Amino acid sequence: MHFLQKAIVITCLATSVLSLPNSLGQKKIEHIVLLSFDGLHQSDVDAYVKANPSSAIATLLKTSVEFDNAQTSKPSDSFPGLIAQVTGGSPKTTGIFYDVSYDRTFFDPGSNCTGTPGAVTAYDETIDFNSTAPVTSINPANLPKTLKNGQCVGVTPHEFLKVNTIFEVAKKHGFFTAWTDKHPAYDIINGPSGKGVDDLYTPEINGINTVEPDIQVYDTLHLNAILNWLKGVSSAGKSIPVPGILGGNFQVISVSQKDSAGGYLDAVGQQPSDELKKGLDFCLNYTVGQIADTLEQQNLTEKTLFIISAKHGQSPINKALLNKIPSANLTSAIGVPIGGLTADDVALIWLKDQSNVDTAVANIQKNSDALGVLKIFSGAELANEFGDPTKNSRTPDIIIQTKPGVIYTTGSKIAEHGGFNEDDVHVPIIVSNPYLKAQVISKHVTTAQIAPTILEVLGINPSELEAVKAENVAPLDGCVP
Ligand SMILES: *[C@@H]1O[C@H](CO)[C@@H](O)[C@H](O)[C@H]1NC(C)=O
Ligand SMILES: *[C@@H]1O[C@H](CO)[C@@H](O)[C@H](O)[C@H]1NC(C)=O
Ligand SMILES: *[C@@H]1O[C@H](CO)[C@@H](O)[C@H](O)[C@H]1NC(C)=O
Ligand SMILES: *[C@@H]1O[C@H](CO)[C@@H](O)[C@H](O)[C@H]1NC(C)=O
Ligand SMILES: *[C@@H]1O[C@H](CO)[C@@H](O)[C@H](O)[C@H]1NC(C)=O
Repeated sequence: MHFLQKAIVITCLATSVLSLPNSLGQKKIEHIVLLSFDGLHQSDVDAYVKANPSSAIATLLKTSVEFDNAQTSKPSDSFPGLIAQVTGGSPKTTGIFYDVSYDRTFFDPGSNCTGTPGAVTAYDETIDFNSTAPVTSINPANLPKTLKNGQCVGVTPHEFLKVNTIFEVAKKHGFFTAWTDKHPAYDIINGPSGKGVDDLYTPEINGINTVEPDIQVYDTLHLNAILNWLKGVSSAGKSIPVPGILGGNFQVISVSQKDSAGGYLDAVGQQPSDELKKGLDFCLNYTVGQIADTLEQQNLTEKTLFIISAKHGQSPINKALLNKIPSANLTSAIGVPIGGLTADDVALIWLKDQSNVDTAVANIQKNSDALGVLKIFSGAELANEFGDPTKNSRTPDIIIQTKPGVIYTTGSKIAEHGGFNEDDVHVPIIVSNPYLKAQVISKHVTTAQIAPTILEVLGINPSELEAVKAENVAPLDGCVP
């Protein structure tokens, strides 16, 4: 039964024999619960379990494989972060760099696709009919446009994604699918078919106060949807099969990390503020406990693989490193016309004229101290990791990795995500089932490996995922290097 551990002792050569699904032996897994506690660091899990050894997460870890050296997508924005988990792909393949990004072939929403192509592609609350309403939907008039067979058409979030998702593949194999997330724009995870998720529940986070305790009220909507799915009830209260893949995201940790009254009291993330502690309790004790209890009540525990991870971390943990720089300073330093600029604790820069790239890079270099620049990605290195910006219409011309703690903002927030630093990207991956023996695996893995793992566990060939095939992404395994 405890194949995984035994196998590790034997050898590390035959990876397929050591894969997580095999460690489950002949046990048939019929359901996957996937949660993203946005903002959660691996260090948060470690600290929480140490301080709360009888919490629900500590109990869950007794039957979990814990990958404690996992990295999320770069950029570590919510969009590419989730897309990695549900497609296996990185932005160069998926086309998804950020929720608000740019495409050199697109046109503005209000346009008739006339003039020079190149437009900001916003897939967040700004495409809603009413972004301050808790329940809303996408207004087609707000979608960025493209020319398709000579027609100027709006591009929905799911059409913007270039590869298929685990939901589409699972559905093709007869599974029911369900997901809950923070904006109607999460239609993106339906995949290009637009039909991957049978029950997509997306109450608009901007429709409620994003502060404690209201944000817990918001997350409770997501939790209740998940508990109902496990009981065979849809978000609309209808009877459904218990989904093969279900899950969603939770915001309270992220919100409490960013709030000026929240964050951490120490430099290494072992002492959360009271506000953040409440968020951690809500997610790691209450939410995990409620889901584990409901699985048990429904007799689903043995048939379910329960996966906990995060779309992204949050940076900096150490408040002393915080260095806020107005993005206007970046714009003026770049010194050439910009088509699109996405600036959080990373900067993605799309130039109006790509032939200006060397000038722009030199200007950023000259001001690198004032702009908090750790590294500038451009040219061959950028093309290799993110796609060639002269061929891939989504790839930025320049990406700035900031020094840890730098955020391009004039706001009051004390942390942000999207960047490439440790606090942005080092998230947990916890994979739980009663047939798994507690195990910590510290080799480097990525959250993109969650996608092929889910399919393999459900008995589906992971290479049915286009991004998994293109980027050769392996399922998570118990192989220790
Ligand atoms: C787009 O075309 C329509 C119909 O021809 C016209 O009424 C509208 O003014 C045009 N809008 C823009 C922004 O050019
Ligand atoms: C948008 O939603 C808010 C909250 O429900 C409501 O107060 C407001 O009137 C709505 N705006 C429009 C234009 O419907
Ligand atoms: C965790 O939840 C249980 C009940 O569900 C509660 O008794 C306990 O106090 C909670 N622990 C923390 C640290 O919140
Ligand atoms: C779970 O199993 C127990 C014992 O076999 C049974 O009494 C109960 O009705 C089952 N619950 C559900 C929701 O199937
Ligand atoms: C931003 O630029 C302004 C104008 O040059 C300057 O006064 C200010 O110090 C800069 N801010 C930061 C945080 O570097």
